[in-house]
Amino acid sequence: MRLSRHVLFALTMALGSACSSAFADPVAATPPMGWNSWNFFAEKVTDADVRAAADALVTSGMRDAGYVYVNIDDGWQGERDAKGVIHPNARFPDMKALADYVHSKGLKLGIYTSPGPKTCAGFTGSLGHEAQDAKTYAAWGVDYLKYDLCSFIEDQMKTKAPNDPAQQMRLMVDAYERMHTALVAAGRPIVYSLCQYGWDAVWEWAPGAKVGGNLWRTTGDITPEWDRIYALASQQAGLASYAGPGHWNDPDMLEVGNGKLTAAENRAHFSWWAMLAAPLLAGNDLAHMPVEVKNILGNRDVIAIDQDPLGKQATRAYAEGEVEVWTRPLQNGAMAIAIFNVGSARYDTHPFRLNLSKLGLHGPQQGKDLWSGKPISLADKQAIALAHHDVMLIRVDAPR
Ligand code: GAL
Repeated sequence: MRLSRHVLFALTMALGSACSSAFADPVAATPPMGWNSWNFFAEKVTDADVRAAADALVTSGMRDAGYVYVNIDDGWQGERDAKGVIHPNARFPDMKALADYVHSKGLKLGIYTSPGPKTCAGFTGSLGHEAQDAKTYAAWGVDYLKYDLCSFIEDQMKTKAPNDPAQQMRLMVDAYERMHTALVAAGRPIVYSLCQYGWDAVWEWAPGAKVGGNLWRTTGDITPEWDRIYALASQQAGLASYAGPGHWNDPDMLEVGNGKLTAAENRAHFSWWAMLAAPLLAGNDLAHMPVEVKNILGNRDVIAIDQDPLGKQATRAYAEGEVEVWTRPLQNGAMAIAIFNVGSARYDTHPFRLNLSKLGLHGPQQGKDLWSGKPISLADKQAIALAHHDVMLIRVDAPR
């Protein structure tokens, strides 16, 4: 009998500490953390870029803070040989050697393909070669696969079911199930990341034994612009119940350090993703990042919110105009509170006043401000000054 990774995961949970060796580390027990090449290098990524990112994860201290996946996105693929085996293109001379290098640094390697004939950037996809590709990835030592719908839409869904959107969705779900089966058969633990932009309420069908998704994109693509980041974050409201250990909503990779995002926007973006129990996949040029960016990505208190073992995603407690307050339950009864100012600055002339009862809290609370690193006490109606697009992120260990 073949066990799906989800059945294995359930067994792991059931066996708990009684069996700590064989199943001790189910994939994606907490949201995956690492780096992905797309947001900075796009389809021009090279073997040298990936090695430099791996090196930087180590020297920056990010690996030790939890960022272990080094994920090559679109652009690595070459052609298939006469036996149908996929080969990387000239920018990636030896994928197995690259995987060995990444592993030698205590990191893991991720790769990307599509269920269609072509990837989104026009490289070779996996259609008709799913089992073969899964075996090739396992042989290289791949630990993570992002499976991006791309040309499957035109080539399969719209061609096979031209006027039947529901049938198109069934074809899509089947395609994701097929790759899951292929990964299980390949026999290596591989994190399975679905990328189909949230279509057909993916959070309802991606987790579970059939499709076996460990994470799934809930939206279209992120860009390094505040409005887009805010739009994606807002669209996570209502999805908390679908996330948990082994299976996560993915509002897309991080843009921290990219484009023209301000320090406040980088902080707010990172805080929001941590509240959402989102995968933390840095998307910047790690080898050349300014210290301010490193300090944001490396904030261990914020990372601990994201990686909290309870695995409960934040919900929006309330909004008052342009200020939104989100809360997240943490293990041992602790709580994270994030106050986002998505609009214009609030000075002490007209500061935002936190309403504790709307968070289910009663009276003064003691916490830690995770961006200043200092203790903070919160009282009802306390004035909180928040700059344009900034955040206050607080951990309360013993909320009352
Ligand atoms: C998009 C995907 C991006 C990136 C890109 C590569 O469909 O959402 O995250 O992978 O394809 O071509």
